Amino acid sequence: MSSNSNTETIIIIDFGSQYSRLIARSIRELNVYCEIVSHKSTWEDIKKSNPKGVILSGGPASVYETNAPLAPNWIYDQDIPVLGICYGMQLLVHQLGGVVEPSDKKEFGHATLNTSDKNNSLFQGISENSSVWMSHGDKVNVLPDGFEILAFTENSPIAAMGNSDGYFGLQFHPEVVHTQEGKIILKNFVEFCGCAQNWTTKNFVDQSILDIRNLVKDKKVICALSGGVDSVVAASLVSRAIGDQLTCIFVNNGLMRKEEPERILDTFSKNLSTNIIYKDASELFLNSLKGVTDPEQKRKIIGNKFIEIFDEESNQLGEVDYLVQGTLYPDVIESQVSGDDISAKIKTHHNVGGLPEDMKLKLLEPLRYLFKDEVRKVGLELGLPTEIVNRQPFPGPGLSIRIVGEVTQEKLNILRLSDWIVMDEMKDSGLYHELWQSFAVLPDSRSVGVTGDHRTYGEVIAIRAVNSSEAMTADWARIPYDILSRMSNRICNEVPGVNRVVYDITSKPPGTIEWE
Ligand code: XMP
Repeated sequence: MSSNSNTETIIIIDFGSQYSRLIARSIRELNVYCEIVSHKSTWEDIKKSNPKGVILSGGPASVYETNAPLAPNWIYDQDIPVLGICYGMQLLVHQLGGVVEPSDKKEFGHATLNTSDKNNSLFQGISENSSVWMSHGDKVNVLPDGFEILAFTENSPIAAMGNSDGYFGLQFHPEVVHTQEGKIILKNFVEFCGCAQNWTTKNFVDQSILDIRNLVKDKKVICALSGGVDSVVAASLVSRAIGDQLTCIFVNNGLMRKEEPERILDTFSKNLSTNIIYKDASELFLNSLKGVTDPEQKRKIIGNKFIEIFDEESNQLGEVDYLVQGTLYPDVIESQVSGDDISAKIKTHHNVGGLPEDMKLKLLEPLRYLFKDEVRKVGLELGLPTEIVNRQPFPGPGLSIRIVGEVTQEKLNILRLSDWIVMDEMKDSGLYHELWQSFAVLPDSRSVGVTGDHRTYGEVIAIRAVNSSEAMTADWARIPYDILSRMSNRICNEVPGVNRVVYDITSKPPGTIEWE
């Protein structure tokens, strides 16, 4: 399934900018659906999305370099408005006959914008001397024929340009928060494109339900529930569309947090009119992890075991045509936009429901075009409890990658109790929903301590808490000392075998969020 079938779209062509996702987020906040695509996309690829406008992103290259990525020719052949941002503006200049050259002075940071054409559609409602964010080393020296200067700053005589065919260029970045009125400029652009701005959560849900019904018809569908937000929301959406044609398989791998399997089952039985198969495979997983210490091997074993069990359970359902997966847009962007680059493998992510070759199931991915916070909104629209919808992400291999070294029942017990305390204190202090993730880790190390008059030799618990958006990078969270202190006291007092608590102050990079 692609985006909703009757959607109008703004196409964002990505030239490798770190801000492309921010452009997408800003456009969607205007209730306009948008997609980020590669600069190699053809008109055949694009036209089915009903494009109403095109945005060319920034990027690290210089347009005059030999192998610089160019905007595809189709953008110049269609009668669709185009907005070039930074490198995107320079591309318009370069490809339409103007001149872009290296600047004597690179320009990074704030600049004051002076609009020369106050009546231009792009700058309606923009204040005099609005602050904008610049980040460029090249600049436009000669405009292509037919273009005029729309705005300038002290260092950029051509900070914005436009022509009467609906082509616009901005040397600054309207998508970043530092550009004071950037959202107004982007709103002006989508209005200029004639977008109806009706892409709301409710419309998304209604249209998805119709699309799923049209696609699936009377066929059977299965879904692997992990308990994570994505799989729960995906399953709920499909369940709303096709009811008991959907069967959810929930495999308890014994690596979940305290009370988690019970809560997930409870939510599902209350909210979904769907069949649920619950398989407690804790023992099987634990046995297969015996003696295993290598993180990658742990992930592989867990992934394979899951597929084996899922396969066994689903085989009993007779003929099934579709498998629901909670794939999100960041995964799609990663694989499509930078699909031609070789990126280093950091960790094997066990994607719940990874398909065995011979299952021959078609994928149903109803959240494929959504960002995480949009998924949460869909979950709330579907009536799921906030406790489930606003949960922090939890990895498929669960607590196993938070126990350094061999996973044993004893270590799981220690980690579960410690993790419960961390979560409890975070929720109590109101920080839980502000953080991307917060949890406990059991490093494979012991330390000497003293309790009463006795020497102890006990386990160490590490607390990990990070701020992040989409988990590509993360910063360790500056948790107030008194909260850390309460966690430390409680863990040492309430979790048998632990006599020391430390706080992980590593960002990503160089660390990763999980310890394994
Ligand atoms: P790292 O540790 O790579 O984690 O910085 C980034 C984000 O991904 C989550 N994570 C996983 N999620 N299966 C998942 O479903 C996995 O194998 C997995 N490994 C890490 C992690 O919790 C963080 O949010």
